[in-house]
Amino acid sequence: MAELSARVGALAQRGVVPGLAFIRVGEDAASKVYVGRKEKACAELGLRSETTVLPQDTTEPQLLGILDRLNAREDIHGILVQAPLPRHMSESRVYSHVLPGKDVDGFHPQNVGKLMLGDATGFRPCTPAGIMELLARTGIRTEGAEVVVLGRGNIVGKPMTAMLCQKGRWANATVTLCHSATREIAAHCRRADILVAAMGVPLFVKASMVKPGAAVLDVGVNRVADPSSSTGTRLVGDVDFQAVQQVAGYLTPNPGGVGPMTIAMLLQNTVQAAEQAAERKASVPEPPLPS
Ligand code: GUN
Repeated sequence: MAELSARVGALAQRGVVPGLAFIRVGEDAASKVYVGRKEKACAELGLRSETTVLPQDTTEPQLLGILDRLNAREDIHGILVQAPLPRHMSESRVYSHVLPGKDVDGFHPQNVGKLMLGDATGFRPCTPAGIMELLARTGIRTEGAEVVVLGRGNIVGKPMTAMLCQKGRWANATVTLCHSATREIAAHCRRADILVAAMGVPLFVKASMVKPGAAVLDVGVNRVADPSSSTGTRLVGDVDFQAVQQVAGYLTPNPGGVGPMTIAMLLQNTVQAAEQAAERKASVPEPPLPS
């Protein structure tokens, strides 16, 4: 965040304030909390954000129309449509409608393709990008490491595998992607030097599934019943933290580990989008003076 703050300061000197537009459809409780946290982080870093809240019965053409207007605005550098979307909408059509240069989520097919090709000019999805940053800045070597990713979702599991197996000093891992049809999942996990849990199954990873000294990253956010809590529920990850901390060499707290990194990477993508827009503007030649 301190590094980003310097970049935001440099943009301010050029008269640019990065702008991020959020769209939330419906009243999903978790989405409300997530978008609220992202708005707060924007304000703390000095980014401008605006949020459009749409009713659950918004039609897809209405949402695409709103995206058209945001795509055309010069003061909006990034656009984020919070998932999940209502079932009557196609996530793939919606995410394909965001301009690739404003797709700070990294969900547009062009950015997904660039990630697969190892082309660093695209935007990378925020949660796996945050995990790469956590690993690198903690000094956990991925080169040659056995990594197991649990979960094959488009937001975390699939892009995570693409980032980890890329060529590069802080990648170069041997990656196994496990999912609901994987056999002997515990045996895969026990081989992992680095284990990323992103399947959305509460407390799935037990101590017996973790290699002693392994780095364990818990992406899961699951609400489970808890009669002892005032709300009757509590949030738990995909990892049984109490037990796994006895075995793991590194373990992300949850909440507080991967989540804040997701937000930091969203802000980084937005600052990058604003910098690229400023560069494009600066490189457009002045129109000739009328003769
Ligand atoms: N829902 C859960 N995670 C994400 C994310 O990273 N981006 C968006 N847009 N929606 C999400």
